Amino acid sequence: MKFYNHKNINYLAKYIPKNSGVFVIIDKNVTEYFPKNRNFHFIPIDANERNKSLEYVYGIYKALIGFGADRDCFIIGVGGGVTTDITGFVASTYKRGVRFGFVPTTLLAQVDAAIGGKNGVNFSGYKNMIGTINQPEWIYVTTTFLRSLDERVFREGIAEMLKTFMIFDKGSYYEALAMAAVYKNKMPVAWQERELRREIALCGEMKMRLVAEDEKDRGSRRLLNLGHTFAHSIEAAGAKGNKAKGAGSFGVLHGEAVSMGMVIAAKVAEKLSLCTEKFVKELSNDLTMASLPVSCPVTATQLFSAIKADKKRSGEKICLILPKSIGRVVKKDIELKELQKVLREINY
Ligand SMILES: NC(=O)c1ccc[n+]([C@@H]2O[C@H](COP(=O)([O-])OP(=O)(O)OC[C@H]3O[C@@H](n4cnc5c(N)ncnc54)[C@H](O)[C@@H]3O)[C@@H](O)[C@H]2O)c1
Repeated sequence: MKFYNHKNINYLAKYIPKNSGVFVIIDKNVTEYFPKNRNFHFIPIDANERNKSLEYVYGIYKALIGFGADRDCFIIGVGGGVTTDITGFVASTYKRGVRFGFVPTTLLAQVDAAIGGKNGVNFSGYKNMIGTINQPEWIYVTTTFLRSLDERVFREGIAEMLKTFMIFDKGSYYEALAMAAVYKNKMPVAWQERELRREIALCGEMKMRLVAEDEKDRGSRRLLNLGHTFAHSIEAAGAKGNKAKGAGSFGVLHGEAVSMGMVIAAKVAEKLSLCTEKFVKELSNDLTMASLPVSCPVTATQLFSAIKADKKRSGEKICLILPKSIGRVVKKDIELKELQKVLREINY
């Protein structure tokens, strides 16, 4: 998989295979920023968590069949993480798999969701329950898309960025944090795009390195789950409390749940004597400075019952990634009973 990081969208044509039908699954909110091309077939979608579902995907298969897309076609997913997750799943299953690439248009998708080949849809209130691991041929990143992002959506990308740097690179963590804090209360357009492009590339490289080592997520790639077991549980608990809105509902965005999840992971680590109380406070302050939420909106009981359904659970144990300090995390298999006890003792 190749990661192309360009100033604007104008270089995209270079990477599209010649002599293939090209089908663009595109988030309706970004169609105006994507070049018109009469040779492409466009399938606009309403990208939201509720539509990240098998039912919604049926409509996309039907559109592809209607356009006559064959096994040699090339699919491009243009949008945020919802669109890239759906597109990867469609491309991996349509006619038993066709070629595809991504143009991620949110910061979160550029630094995380579009990288790594995990794709899929939510099912029965649980996040990403049905899917495959299959790499796109390329990811084409340009910061120009970020200019139109809602600031909250932009900041959830910062959460994923801080997560990756928190695992691997203390220096980049503080650089990203400084950028996020300086630009507090300003629109993303004010970001210095060159600096941001550098951070996006660094973050992408870190994730791609781990994916190359452990594509199937059985070993080192699991480090990237820092905060995610708790984040997915917060999102699933929210979905259960408010089925009508679907997974990821009750107002919490995925990146925001990751921010809360990182703080819970630090609190669990503190209870297990892996880090200090001072570290937990500093992390919480850092994320607050980056305008990210840190207080968990669900109870320990709701959190635990969602954790029991987590894909990462094996038998009576679950593998957690816990921070010791910025730049140092550990993998820890923990008995569910022990986790339940620890979660009850934590102050959210
Ligand atoms: N596959 C993975 O490894 C992975 C990793 C992390 C997250 N995810 C998934 O990613 C999803 C979250 O991604 P997201 O935060 O990008 O959400 P999203 O795709 O829902 O995008 C958020 C909002 O921004 C809008 N938008 C997108 N690009 C825009 C632009 N350039 N300008 C204006 N508006 C724009 C969208 O229409 C949407 O309303 C979740 O479903 C999560 O599970 C997947």
